[in-house]
Amino acid sequence: MDFQKEIIKLLEKHVKNPTLEIPPSKELGDYAFPCFPLAREYKKNPIEIAQDLHKKIKPTKAIEKITVNGGYLNFFINKELLAEEVINQILKEKEKYGNSHLGKNKTIVIDMSSPNIAKPFGIGHLRSTIIGNSLSEIHKKLGFKTIKINYLGDWGTQFGKLIVGYKKFGSATKLKKNPIEHLLEVYVKANSEEYEDEARAWFKKLELGDKEALKLWKFFRELSIKEFDKIYKILGIKFDVNSGESYYNNKMQSTIKELKTKNLLEESEEALVVNLEKYNLEVCLIQKKDGTTLYATRDITAAIDRYKKYKFEKMLYEVGSEQQLHFKQFFKVLELLGYKWAKNCIHIEHGLYLDKEGKKFATRKGKTVFMEEILQETIDLAKKTIEKKNPKLKNKDEIARKIAIGAIFFGDLKNKRNNNIIFDIERFLDFEGDTGPYLQYSYARANSILEKVKTKKTTFKLKNLEEPEIELIKKLSAFPDIVNQSYTHLNPAIIANYSTELAQNFNEFYHKCPVINSEYKEQRISIVKAFMYIIKESLSLLGIETVQEM
Ligand code: ARG
Repeated sequence: MDFQKEIIKLLEKHVKNPTLEIPPSKELGDYAFPCFPLAREYKKNPIEIAQDLHKKIKPTKAIEKITVNGGYLNFFINKELLAEEVINQILKEKEKYGNSHLGKNKTIVIDMSSPNIAKPFGIGHLRSTIIGNSLSEIHKKLGFKTIKINYLGDWGTQFGKLIVGYKKFGSATKLKKNPIEHLLEVYVKANSEEYEDEARAWFKKLELGDKEALKLWKFFRELSIKEFDKIYKILGIKFDVNSGESYYNNKMQSTIKELKTKNLLEESEEALVVNLEKYNLEVCLIQKKDGTTLYATRDITAAIDRYKKYKFEKMLYEVGSEQQLHFKQFFKVLELLGYKWAKNCIHIEHGLYLDKEGKKFATRKGKTVFMEEILQETIDLAKKTIEKKNPKLKNKDEIARKIAIGAIFFGDLKNKRNNNIIFDIERFLDFEGDTGPYLQYSYARANSILEKVKTKKTTFKLKNLEEPEIELIKKLSAFPDIVNQSYTHLNPAIIANYSTELAQNFNEFYHKCPVINSEYKEQRISIVKAFMYIIKESLSLLGIETVQEM
């Protein structure tokens, strides 16, 4: 039963295109119809209009009571009917509640994470991983096929520098012990004007397939991937495609040819560019004067290739806002090349992580912070809390990992994507308040109720509902709409905030409506079960796992 639709149907007999509002307080019903916009047409004051409508519209089985308050018509729905339907449906559909076929036969490509070889996995890459993963889950729920691509930064002039650095300052032992740290060290040393020509020459060699250059590059790449994989394992993230900029090396000439044929290339100081000044987008550099290619060249090539492969409905690039110009530029180039699908390429921007002082979170004590360390510290901290709260818990390590990752994911996703976030592990890990652990705890608490009852019989007959039960069920019923909203706005924060409200409703219920020794035991077990399905599913759309106990 869609109560809103039912009310609209009643109203439509008397007014054109009625729209409903949600009243600010329960005394004003579940839905309200404001009569103010009708005043001019009816040449009456809104209160009179509301009174007239009130006389004409009679309650139904689903709409129990209708009242007038000022210029509003207030509708009170039949709570028991709502409760029975919602609980019935959730217990039947389980985690599939809210699924749809909206995306049937449609593919969404998500370019995400994409750290750079021989560099530390950055905090921005973490955001990209978390947000990209959630967007994938949301789309999957609505029936889309999603393809998560990890597009490694594994090509470009910097590899010339890296090769020079390694040849001059590298040590095989150091490399083995601490690959990324050592590669970063030699890169920094070689990153000066002194070695510029040499570095450029090495990258050129690499693009031409020189054996020695390729061998070193491959070696650095493999070492880096191994390090990144450790991080993905802790995060519990997998990709559908592991790719990288290098993959497009031998396809770039055909892009350049295509740009030439379509008259888009201009020479500028011996380099090739697409001039986008007309669109206020400066110029997009395609080929340097030494013949090597650029980030944009590879992105253009990659996009064309991906469209051929996947015929995507949309391609989302989950990358920090600082690359806004780059995306605007190469989307424009694709459009100028005549690709209609270019308008379906979307840069999903995100803001920065800041430290507690509000500075860009990148360095600590002047040193680069390594992601694996941050994750490990968070896990250790989570474990400490568990040791204190529940020393007898089994599988503490795995549970600590899930709590730590849940804390970080939720700490990120509850914010508006474009905002900067304070990266504050202690706050993220708080078991109280608007945090991942609080939500996981609500699930575990619900689970503990079920563990205490012997027969887990459920019922679809819900009688004499109390206020907290009604509020919780109403919140549960909103889930499908919440999923749709987060899809429309490409915004996981909508689900994150919903999860918090849902958990708050549950905790209210938990404190006021005893389950075990109650005459309403069966109906309350049904409600607890329904809550568990939805909070679990809600968190899983954010990439967060639940635990049975914590
Ligand atoms: N590797 C890049 C960086 O770390 C991000 C790549 C984003 N994806 C893309 N298709 N450009 O800045």
